[in-house]
Amino acid sequence: MAVGVFDSGLGGLTVLGALLQRLPEVPFVYLGDNAHTPYGTREPDDIFHLTCAGVERLWAEGCDLVILACNTASAAALRRMQESWVPPHKRVLGVFVPLIEALTERQWGDNSPPREVAVKHVALFATPTTVSSRAFQRELAFRAIGVDVEAQPCGGLVDAIEDGDMILAEALVHSHVEALKRRMPRPEAAVLGCTHYPLMEAAFAEALGPGVRVFSQPGIVAESLANYLARRPEMLGPGAEGAFLTTGDPRRVGQRATQFLRRGVSFAAA
Ligand code: DGL
Repeated sequence: MAVGVFDSGLGGLTVLGALLQRLPEVPFVYLGDNAHTPYGTREPDDIFHLTCAGVERLWAEGCDLVILACNTASAAALRRMQESWVPPHKRVLGVFVPLIEALTERQWGDNSPPREVAVKHVALFATPTTVSSRAFQRELAFRAIGVDVEAQPCGGLVDAIEDGDMILAEALVHSHVEALKRRMPRPEAAVLGCTHYPLMEAAFAEALGPGVRVFSQPGIVAESLANYLARRPEMLGPGAEGAFLTTGDPRRVGQRATQFLRRGVSFAAA
């Protein structure tokens, strides 16, 4: 009954941590494509092929359902995968839709027509590829009308976090928030649209100042998956055991993972 969780690197562990807490009975198989991280500056075609390879590896672990715990892969590859590649008995779900459902105060899986929502000015912080895909705005337009989105590509932030250079990461958060505020001085909500950014949530909140509601994905995605599995229990695949896999160096990745999960984990080669 395993579920797969995929990210370009370590960021998806922020989502996995929340999934393990919310669904302790489900074995999760995590795969980080650390050999090819970051995805956030790659071309969509490249991201599509890397993500398909990662998802196939998770299917081989008995995970019929795979969560792309990576906004960049969700933005650049998911639609193409769902339309042309995922076989009928498997599912690949992204992390954008649950976030937008939370932002627009919808029930999970509510696909009714777009309507006016309370929030009007939204700041999106994400990787350059996610921002240029405009996937967030597209998914939002299916659900809400009259929402102004200002997106800030946060160049360099994923690399700083993956390298464990939190001083640089904090400086980058402040400069990206300043850049966004020059274009949207008073956002009501800020979306952390990259699974690495929850580690910097306090820095984002401080730089944004009081009165800005910060939406971070781990808790939101965990709640939405719990709801999905209650509706679709048959999507729990035949895999029986959780695991941590990486395309990178398992020892190095395991050491760095501690910062994300706040406990030691050992990775195996994918
Ligand atoms: N953590 C990922 C995301 O949510 C990917 C970051 C990257 O590889 O650039 O976008």
